[in-house]
Amino acid sequence: MSDVALEAAWAKLNRLAAQPEAAAIRPLFAADPERFARFSQHGAGMLLDRSKTSISDEVQAALFDLAREAGVERQRDAMANGALVNVTEGRAALHMALRGFLPGAREASADAAATREQMRVFTEAVHRGEIRGATNQRFDTVLNIGIGGSDLGPVMVGRALWRAGDPMRPIHLGNVDGHGWETVLPMLDARRTLVLISSKTFTTMETMANAQLVRDWMEASVGKLGASSHFAALSTNLKATEAFGIAADRVFPFRDWVGGRFSLWSAIGLSLALSLGWERFQALLDGAAEMDRHFLDAPLEENLPILLALTEAWHVNGLGLHRRAVLPYDERLRRLPAHLQQLEMESLGKRVRSDGTPVGRATGSVVFGEPGTSAQHSFLQLIHQGPEMVPVDFILVARPDHRHAENHRILLANGLAQAEALLTGRDRAGVEADMRAAGADEATVARLLPHRIFPGNRPSVTIVLPHLDPASLGSLIALYEHKVFVLGALWGINPFDQWGVELGKVLATPLVAELQDGAPAGTHDSSTAGLLAEVLRLQSHP
Ligand code: F6P
Repeated sequence: MSDVALEAAWAKLNRLAAQPEAAAIRPLFAADPERFARFSQHGAGMLLDRSKTSISDEVQAALFDLAREAGVERQRDAMANGALVNVTEGRAALHMALRGFLPGAREASADAAATREQMRVFTEAVHRGEIRGATNQRFDTVLNIGIGGSDLGPVMVGRALWRAGDPMRPIHLGNVDGHGWETVLPMLDARRTLVLISSKTFTTMETMANAQLVRDWMEASVGKLGASSHFAALSTNLKATEAFGIAADRVFPFRDWVGGRFSLWSAIGLSLALSLGWERFQALLDGAAEMDRHFLDAPLEENLPILLALTEAWHVNGLGLHRRAVLPYDERLRRLPAHLQQLEMESLGKRVRSDGTPVGRATGSVVFGEPGTSAQHSFLQLIHQGPEMVPVDFILVARPDHRHAENHRILLANGLAQAEALLTGRDRAGVEADMRAAGADEATVARLLPHRIFPGNRPSVTIVLPHLDPASLGSLIALYEHKVFVLGALWGINPFDQWGVELGKVLATPLVAELQDGAPAGTHDSSTAGLLAEVLRLQSHP
């Protein structure tokens, strides 16, 4: 591998992307009746179909060359062996050790297993009623306080898997907005609530403010002495958890080699273990471990995370498509797009490579999404007929967990139909024939024709899960985690740091005081100073 060879591989891809028909998909189907079979792969129990993209055999070969020249497999193995792949923070990225044994990272694997055991013992003791609150009542609710990776993953998995009758009810407090607390407060009985303060750093302003709010409420409800039995902390910062007053046996630690957005498998997943039960949490980890084995073992050409990443590289760097929609056709996955937003955009929003040189090409996509079919009735119009193409990830689940077979058929039919419509579009002849058959006169046909034509050739990938259960969800999340890693490897960037979000945090600190006392002249740009003054004026003259 050399920089020259890597740049040559990018140049080859760019040449293919510059060809006039580079974005056309329909001709690829017309030319190859086996296209679906050749461009869809099974792995870790799911199917990934990339046939509805404009990746031809030639483009595919160029993408594989690119992956080889970028050393994707070598970089993957280095990550699994504990190399300090997070170069700006001098850390490894060993989230795979949280869900399976990594022979190249024995110490990390053993460390993760020890915390897992601590979590299991605690979870089962809470469920058996051996660990109770200050008033000797059993805990029936777990309140997770955390934000970003200490919230989004647990929320997303909880929404996907939790059912009435499961061991505990999960409630999440993420945003520092007091309205969030006011919303969850009526759902809580302090005597039966176990509070988890989830924060890798245990310094995040929002989480610490909410933790203080909840502690005050708990102390007022069950007394200062008893309140501590209602708290546990999930963190890497053991000094700070102690300073907050969390008993040592109520701290579930993890290591700095767990990135926030990769942390739901760590102690940060405790709210999931408590709410879903240990077996289902373990099954989630097992599902992720199955995808890890696939990622580590499958050849490049059959490796789902690598194939998904290469598809994205084709769209982002080849075709210049910088937005992507994620449409799970399963209401239970309604928070998956939010989780992927952090996973992908916080990881891949980088302008320099790991060596500090400009990356020189686009990185990452703007990710957004909603469950289908609801998304069809809000923003899919832009994806069908807007002038710019927006690739879509469709996620379909074959077998539902309800008995409403007709509803499920309608749901899946719509998912399949949207992907088909994006591909095929609606051409002039078809629209004209339809309108004439409906009795439109020629003037009306001519006037409405441009509005009713769909260009088609709009790319999508489809992921099919047999069933949504802890294992398949674990595999699905791990698929996207590894995709992000592969994209980082292709672009030469570090997907494990997030310096960009630090500046806003630093600037917020003095502003908290200035929202009480005002800011001395010249502290801020005129816009920030003007907005601050306006808020203070409105607060003092309601
Ligand atoms: O927004 C930046 C960030 O550091 C995320 O990466 C992280 O998931 C989140 O804040 C919360 O951090 P912590 O778990 O340390 O409270």
